[in-house]
Amino acid sequence: MSDFINQFWADYVTWITLASIAACALLLWITARKKVPVRADNTTGHVWDEDLREANNPLPMWWVGLFVITIVFGLIYLALYPGLGRSDGRLGWSAQGQYQAERTQAQTAMEPVYAAWRDLPIEKIAHDPAARGVGERIFMNNCAQCHASDARGSRGFPNLTDDDWLHGGSPEAILQTITKGREGVMPPMAAAVGTSDEVRNLAQYVLSLSGRSTDSVRAQLGRSKFSACAACHGIGGVGNPALGAPRLNDEVWLHGFGEEAIVSIINNGKHNTMPAQEGRLTEAQIRVVGAYVWGLSNKAAH
Ligand code: HEC
Ligand code: HEC
Repeated sequence: MSDFINQFWADYVTWITLASIAACALLLWITARKKVPVRADNTTGHVWDEDLREANNPLPMWWVGLFVITIVFGLIYLALYPGLGRSDGRLGWSAQGQYQAERTQAQTAMEPVYAAWRDLPIEKIAHDPAARGVGERIFMNNCAQCHASDARGSRGFPNLTDDDWLHGGSPEAILQTITKGREGVMPPMAAAVGTSDEVRNLAQYVLSLSGRSTDSVRAQLGRSKFSACAACHGIGGVGNPALGAPRLNDEVWLHGFGEEAIVSIINNGKHNTMPAQEGRLTEAQIRVVGAYVWGLSNKAAH
């Protein structure tokens, strides 16, 4: 595959490359033919700093040979490997292909390691310290950059060690999340709620769901507006894993706690993505890392 946007640039690169190589060969040929008039003592007659004379010694042959070899090597290399415009080279080599081949090789080599866990239920895999060790490695390499190395997450990235789940904490739900990824989508809701004052009242009502309201009068005023939210977040803000809508009546805040954070999310909405792992990890790896994640919030299981 080449990234050229059109044939012009492919040709442009091809011709500049070939013209440069041809120019090198030409230079070599011309200089080899050029005869400098020499005196009897093998100097050219040029003198600097009173007595520094320029002798006329030819380049050593091995040096000239290197020039020629470089040119021939360049031409052979460009014929075999991708390098000339859109050409794929006669060997059909590509970085992508090599990466895939090495990946497949590594996965095949690792297969026996995972074989022992392939048919076990997630609860059983989580029980096995060796599997947890492998799962932790996979987590560190593929998940920790977002969910943190202790899996406690940070703002926008959910904590995976508690029993508060956006999309469900059953083994099946966790495997589904990892394999296919998830989209958490909350649309901007300000228009459905009303004026900015009404949005603030509603935010106070949301805070009152977890006993954190600072203004009970405004919370009462905001109550009726919550019907627009209950469609996703459930009556009383109990959450809905089928929609990825978080519980609002607990102490866990993915996008920040307090009136400002809630007002901002009502006004702007939120789109949060958990990237699908099925193209990156094998099914066996997903089961093992899934068991590791499930085990983090089900410590009693092991
Ligand atoms: C690029 C960042 C990123 C990476 C990498 C990532 N995640 Fe996530 N993950 C997220 C985000 C963001 C969410 C929340 C999605 C949402 O808001 O609906 C999430 C959600 C989840 C959930 C669901 C949590 C819940 O409460 O339902 C699980 C389980 C999960 N990730 C596991 C993993 C595992 C295991 C890996 C590694 C194989 C991983 N994630 C890699 C960003 C990431
Ligand atoms: C279409 C469904 C939908 C509707 C309607 C909806 N939400 Fe959400 N809301 C979500 C989803 C999904 C998320 C999680 C976004 C994510 O994955 O990061 C969310 C997140 C939130 C959060 C952040 C929670 C946290 O833990 O930080 C708050 C607060 C919130 N919503 C309040 C409201 C309020 C108030 C309304 C009504 C005005 C409302 N939502 C309407 C789907 C919805």
